Amino acid sequence: MTTFLISGGRGLVGKSLGNMLKRQGHEVYKLSRRPKKKGHIYWNPEKQRIDEKHLDKIEVIINLAGANIGAQKWSDKRKIELINSRVNSIQFLKQTASKMPKLNYFISASGINCYGYNTQVEKEESHEYGNDFLSELVKEWEIASNSFKEICPVAILRIALVVDKKGGALKKIMKPIRLGLGSPLGSGQQYLPWIHIKDLCRMFIHCIEHKKEGTFNAANGYISNQEFMKTISKKMKKPFFFPAIPKRILSFFLGEMSTMLTESLKVSNQKIKQNGFEFLFPDFDSAMAHIVKNED
Ligand SMILES: NC(=O)c1ccc[n+]([C@@H]2O[C@H](COP(=O)([O-])OP(=O)(O)OC[C@H]3O[C@@H](n4cnc5c(N)ncnc54)[C@H](OP(=O)(O)O)[C@@H]3O)[C@@H](O)[C@H]2O)c1
Repeated sequence: MTTFLISGGRGLVGKSLGNMLKRQGHEVYKLSRRPKKKGHIYWNPEKQRIDEKHLDKIEVIINLAGANIGAQKWSDKRKIELINSRVNSIQFLKQTASKMPKLNYFISASGINCYGYNTQVEKEESHEYGNDFLSELVKEWEIASNSFKEICPVAILRIALVVDKKGGALKKIMKPIRLGLGSPLGSGQQYLPWIHIKDLCRMFIHCIEHKKEGTFNAANGYISNQEFMKTISKKMKKPFFFPAIPKRILSFFLGEMSTMLTESLKVSNQKIKQNGFEFLFPDFDSAMAHIVKNED
């Protein structure tokens, strides 16, 4: 049995990952600014406050904390919040690590949107960061995570769009489709990397169990937006005939954030496979079939 501390553990990924770890017999504590139940530990990285009870037991930190990228338009103020909520949280966790004598591994979330967009190349972990806002955010986030190497081994998962109907982008996308309004976004030809929530949680656990170090693309694969929207509609037994929503409309309503939906990114998942990880879902069709059937 291992004792885990998950920062941001009350979010979409933290809930599933925490449950999977508990089912395997591990002890799981979650850091939250709003602790709700047993096992939640209060912290507030902005105010540099943390309840130190239980920290002496922690062996592995899983860092998921950060203001939600898709929750609101990226004003200049919001961009600073998105970066600071990640970088400052990790720096504060690092200061707190002196209270964790048993800590022997740190693994952090990061984002797949860090390579820039619209090249035909499948991006590998060794490729350069892009020049857009998300690339800059990921770079700073990963520098902060890698600073944990002074304390223990570090792994970073560059997470693709998480496919889970309980929340995140998919839940939002399924709403209009449920009303029969399924349509491609932008040209529909742009590629979107994705990962099933179950495979993402399994990948975290794989890295932890095998003490993997380094940065890994966390994506089952990528799919064109047209196929993505069509597959969701098909699995939900809903029509898919609405005209594509033009890029300029998405840009008007979502601002710069719309680039996550309208720009194209292909990524390679060879590195994690070469490190012994096997995906459960070989393609988006099988992933969506699982999601819609509501299997656990
Ligand atoms: N879901 C995706 O599709 C996806 C894709 C790529 C990368 N990621 C990354 O993976 C991580 C986990 O994703 P998720 O979908 O589980 O995110 P989520 O549901 O938004 O949860 C993130 C958690 O971070 C905490 N948080 C928010 N603002 C914070 C702040 N200012 N300071 C400290 N903590 C803060 C919140 O915990 P409390 O309110 O309890 O404090 C929240 O529950 C995130 O960093 C996200 O950016 C997710």
